[in-house]
Amino acid sequence: MGRKITVIGAGHVGASVAQQVLAQQLGDVVLVDIAEELAQGKALDLNQAGSVLGFTGQAVGTAKFEYTIDSDIIIVTAGSPRKPGMSRDDLLKINFDIVHTVVGHAVSASPEAIILVVTNPLDAMTYAAWRTSGFPAQRVIGMAGVLDSARFRLFLAEALGVSVHMVEAMVLGGHGDDMVPCLPLTRVGGAAVTDQLPAEDLARIIERTRTGGGEIVKLLKTGSAYYAPAASVVRMAAAILRDEKAVLPCAAWLQGEYGQRDLFLGVPVVLGREGVIRIMEFGLSAEDQSALQRSAEAVRALNRQVDALLQGK
Ligand code: APR
Repeated sequence: MGRKITVIGAGHVGASVAQQVLAQQLGDVVLVDIAEELAQGKALDLNQAGSVLGFTGQAVGTAKFEYTIDSDIIIVTAGSPRKPGMSRDDLLKINFDIVHTVVGHAVSASPEAIILVVTNPLDAMTYAAWRTSGFPAQRVIGMAGVLDSARFRLFLAEALGVSVHMVEAMVLGGHGDDMVPCLPLTRVGGAAVTDQLPAEDLARIIERTRTGGGEIVKLLKTGSAYYAPAASVVRMAAAILRDEKAVLPCAAWLQGEYGQRDLFLGVPVVLGREGVIRIMEFGLSAEDQSALQRSAEAVRALNRQVDALLQGK
């Protein structure tokens, strides 16, 4: 049986996700948006690309969740993007309402699905999606680490004059300005990056990675990044649908791992057909551990706002 991937939000990120899902032959796409004609128009446009690009999956655009019944994966991109000067956290209240509504409908239609969250502020919206869904935490995962690591890898590759494929990196923690690019896991052609770049260059690249989303917001002026965020969540969806057991940094529910509990935070996760198969733990440097703690505190503050908003429902 073909796979069914529901993409909620047919905006910049959602449409890019749909295009990449089809191009990678991961399955059929249901593109859901309150702006129904926008979803229908993009689905039609995508289907017309099929014969040219050689993919066989189909897209449906709709505002109705009945089309999403029995989806394997639900990718949540609905929300308001960041405007210049707006932090990811400013978006919390607006996007909480949207995520709460769409996840409620989506899980009634697909009680066995795996939910991947892209809407910001990421870690708190993943928590909101999980609380709303009533799903086991293994089946609710946030996308941030793959994107943050991709940005870090690009900037390092450029500084070192090497292919981006030669750079391995893991960015952990929350998807905020205090994310944790983990240097002991960062390698260039197998060598420790700390032996390849002076400390001040590394510090500059880490700072650019932390503010990587904002750099794009400033340039675009009317929205936030979408090609790389879409590629990152589709990478996670592929790992799940193909039961790859790939190790990817994702926002997962922690129950004591890395000294953290009761929150979604970016950590290395083994991803397969059941979602989070396990969280990979490894010893962090004292510096990274305290950075992760700071990042976790920032996420907890947002989760408390989510708890309060959920109480009002
Ligand atoms: N139900 C369905 N769709 C909705 C709803 C809703 N309740 N509310 C908003 N949407 C849709 C909008 O109609 C819009 O088409 O979500 C879409 C969002 O698209 P964009 O405005 O283009 O935003 P985008 O750039 O795709 O970003 C979406 O991803 O990376 C994050 O920070 C970003 O949270 C933002 C999200």
